[in-house]
Amino acid sequence: TGVIDALGEGVEGLKIGQRVSAASVHGTWAESFIAPARMVIPMPDSIDDNTAAQLIAMPLSALMLLEFLQVQEGQWILQNAANGAVGKALAMLAKARGVHCINLVRRDAGVAEMAELGIDHTISTAQSDWMAQVQAKVGKASIAAAVDSVGGRASSELMTLLGDGGTLVSFGSMTGEPMQLSSGDVIFKQATVKGFWGSKVSQAMAPDDKRRLVGELLQLAARGGLSLPVDGVFGLDQVADAAKASLEPGRNGKVLLRP
Ligand SMILES: NC(=O)c1ccc[n+]([C@@H]2O[C@H](COP(=O)([O-])OP(=O)(O)OC[C@H]3O[C@@H](n4cnc5c(N)ncnc54)[C@H](OP(=O)(O)O)[C@@H]3O)[C@@H](O)[C@H]2O)c1
Repeated sequence: TGVIDALGEGVEGLKIGQRVSAASVHGTWAESFIAPARMVIPMPDSIDDNTAAQLIAMPLSALMLLEFLQVQEGQWILQNAANGAVGKALAMLAKARGVHCINLVRRDAGVAEMAELGIDHTISTAQSDWMAQVQAKVGKASIAAAVDSVGGRASSELMTLLGDGGTLVSFGSMTGEPMQLSSGDVIFKQATVKGFWGSKVSQAMAPDDKRRLVGELLQLAARGGLSLPVDGVFGLDQVADAAKASLEPGRNGKVLLRP
């Protein structure tokens, strides 16, 4: 996030001095950098720097993911690694759209972290009966879609909880392990397993759709419905410390650089 110093030839819709954020750009750990105009989004002053720096990265991926799930108001979805940046954003965005989202975290302390952000339906998988807790929340309804950011056995657990005809989306693999899936679950539920790669979805998305989604994010952020926690802010002379902090387990929010 910063201010435009110069514009390339033929750039329209942006002006010098305008406050903007840029996403999917390399070489941004610097006082200034060059970004393609289509990756630059104007930021109103009502959005603070810490939010603006994150808004069109993980939250935009999360909103594209929510669209990808094709779920409607009142339906249930389920996700793991829910206290990560994408997970938190997905939970808040789903809530804003009236979609019920069950959030799995791997540590009991994660439940309180999520509650502090106003996120409900959080369940710790450290509890031996966590699957029964999920079923109790959903009641007679069924889970239309699940988002897996963990892989390994976690994939099969989501598939087991998914409703008939549901969709399991592979989003990440925090374990680095291949997804394990029970053939029986996939067959009898007639489930669909799909991959989601944000940058491809983003490139393929029509500009009008992207503008609509960014507008939804800006509105939600401006009315305080999107809290994007920051674990630490480092200067450019502290890049090594920042990188180290970003790899700390259990950190509560993203690590930012402020030149
Ligand atoms: N497909 C796409 O387009 C796309 C786009 C962006 C990101 N991603 C992927 O999405 C995932 C999450 O990204 P993020 O930015 O939200 O990450 P993040 O903010 O760094 O959070 C990581 C989350 O994963 C949890 N976690 C770490 N190791 C785990 C394990 N072995 N088992 C279960 N949970 C584990 C962490 O839990 P603790 O808090 O307990 O440590 C935390 O909730 C990553 O795999 C990333 O590569 C995919």
